Formats: sequence, structure tokens, C-alpha cells
Amino acid sequence: MKINHNISAIDLFCGIGGLTHGLKKAGIKILAGIDQDSSCKYAFEKNNKAEFIDSDVSEIKGDSLLQKYWNKKNHIKVLVGCAPCQPFSSHSNKVKDKETGDKWFLLNQFRRLISETQPEIVSMENVPNLANKDIFESFISFLKLNEYYVSYSNVYCPDYGIPQKRRRLVLLASKLGEISLIDKTHSPKNYKTTREVIGDLPNISAGERHANDPIHYTCALTPINIKRIKASKPNGTWLDWDESLRLNCHKKNSGNSYKSVYGRMNWDEPSPTITTQFYNFGTGRFGHPEQDRALTIREAALLQTFPKNYKFYKDPDEISMTKLGVHIGNAVPVDLGFVIGKSILKHLENNNL
Ligand SMILES: C[S@@+](CC[C@H](N)C(=O)[O-])C[C@H]1O[C@@H](n2cnc3c(N)ncnc32)[C@H](O)[C@@H]1O
Repeated sequence: MKINHNISAIDLFCGIGGLTHGLKKAGIKILAGIDQDSSCKYAFEKNNKAEFIDSDVSEIKGDSLLQKYWNKKNHIKVLVGCAPCQPFSSHSNKVKDKETGDKWFLLNQFRRLISETQPEIVSMENVPNLANKDIFESFISFLKLNEYYVSYSNVYCPDYGIPQKRRRLVLLASKLGEISLIDKTHSPKNYKTTREVIGDLPNISAGERHANDPIHYTCALTPINIKRIKASKPNGTWLDWDESLRLNCHKKNSGNSYKSVYGRMNWDEPSPTITTQFYNFGTGRFGHPEQDRALTIREAALLQTFPKNYKFYKDPDEISMTKLGVHIGNAVPVDLGFVIGKSILKHLENNNL
């Protein structure tokens, strides 16, 4: 994709670069990403040709970001990020934020950096229920006070051809005029399916690693879990199993509410949301549609729309299921980043910029 040289972006809480890579694919140059997890550096830099700043976002000053943006007349600065909801960062020295006891304090750090850099365009991606929080309302009021046009929506990823039933809140804000997400590209009639994305990968067994693809690799299952997955049906629940296979907690009445664990995926629909635990058969509907095992790292990466050639590790000895689980499960699907990037570029075009 041709890069538009009138616009450049910085990605806060960048991880290994799902959002960044989508923006790049759309044609936006990424200058830097900031994340305090240094294990994300290799993949972020290798795939995106952008600097990884290993830091707590709370420690970053607006001035240092302003120095990174291209210093050209009429240049458009974009600041994007996906401030996670979490308990307090041990690295944060923002005592005031800590005292408020607010688990969304990182959103206030994003807001501070918007205030200090005044980018022309802002985008934020987050969990849908953030839209119901006071802190989100105050974030929107802050943007409007700073003369941004704002829109946000609850995106169902299959509506944009992403093969995964993930829902995300996507906010766009611009000082240049009205801005919104591009129109949906798919409908239930042509949602991309799990089969289309991972159906042609070679079969492997639980605990095995494919000889030619070190991340086509899946966790071993205990003998009882092998029996359980053999008894599982696509889109079924553990209620399909023989009583002898059920967990004690599922035998109690209260256990009946946990139906979406130990599930098997269905070939002919988008996959369930890929979480950081996708490799664990017991934590969701992460059983392969027909093989008796959980998803491999490769399958999760493809369902998160990372391209096949995305480099996740420098040395195969570094591959860790837990670490890559966090990197891949935490990412914004690359193609959602692409939709955000396309929306920003369309907005500029609509405003003759
Ligand atoms: C949801 S993930 C972001 C995923 C990323 N946008 C992508 O598309 O791949 C949130 C990231 O925030 C990072 N993080 C959490 N607290 C942070 C902080 N205080 N400063 C910098 N990064 C932080 C985590 O290490 C994690 O990589």
C-alpha cells in the first residue's frame, strides 16, 4: 500500500502492533509505538519499521512525542491507542490517579497526551462496555472542548470481513471536520468463516509442533481432556458429554451458567473472540472444529488477521505459548486497524486534504 506522506501516527499501548500494522496496511506511516512490555519490541519493529519505545505511557511527555512527528507544513498528526483497563501499574508515578482508585486511569494518560500534543486526529479502540462509564463520557467532553468532531461505534468485527465474533468500541475524533468509520463491508450472508481462514492448515495432534511452522503448535491435553474434546460437538457444550467426563463444578446447579468453556468451534461461522487463553481448551470455545485439540498459535494469529508472514519471534527457542498468547490475544485485529486507517484516509479525502 502506498504511504500517504501528509500524515503520520504514533500508537500508544502498541503491543506487537496489531493496530499499527492495520494502519500501515491502509497507507498511514507509523512513527513509533509505546508499550511497557519490552517483549513486544521485536515483533513491533520488525513488521512495522517503526520505533518501539519501551516505557510506561504515564512517563511519556507530550514534547517528546511532538519531536517525533514529521515537522512539515500542513502535516497531519494522528495519535491512536487502546488504553487497557487494569489495576494500577506498578511503574506509574501518577499518585493522584492511583488515589482515585480508577482502573481506567490509563485513559486519562491518553487524554493528557492529546492535550499536550493536540493531534489533528485521534482514534481509540477499547472494550464495548467502556461506553457506559463516566470516564468515557468525560473523555468525549474533553475532546469536544478541544474542538474535535467525535464519533464512536460498537463494531462487530464480522461486519468488516474479520473472521471473529469480536466486538470493540472504536472512537474517531478530528479537528478537521466530521469523521466516522467507513461503511460495513460484510453481512451475515457473507461473513468470513473459520474454515476460510484456517481450513487449509496441516493437521496436527494435541501437544505437537509442525516441522515447517514452529508456531503451528498446540498444547498437550491430559487423557481426560482428550476424552472430553472427542465428545464435544461444534457449537455444543459440555452438556453433550457423558456424566463421567463432567467437571465437579459443572455438576452443581451453579455450574450450568458456564456453558462457553470446553467448547469446539464451528467451521462455517466466524470464530469466537480470540483471548489471551486461546491455546487452552478449558477456557473458551477454543477446541478445533474437527481435530481433537485446542487452537495453535498460527491459527489464533490468522483469526486475528495477522498476515502469514508476520514475524512473532526472533529465535524459535524463544517461542512461549503464554507470551505469544498475550501478544496475539491482546492485539487489535490487524484488519480492524485497517478499517480505522481507511476511515481516517477517507475523512481526509472528503475534506480535500
Ligand atoms: C490491549 S493491548 C494493546 C494491543 C495493541 N494495540 C495491538 O493492536 O497489538 C494493551 C497493551 O498495553 C500495554 N500497557 C499496559 N499498561 C501500560 C502502560 N502503563 N504503559 C505502556 N503500556 C502499557 C500492555 O503491555 C499491552 O501490550
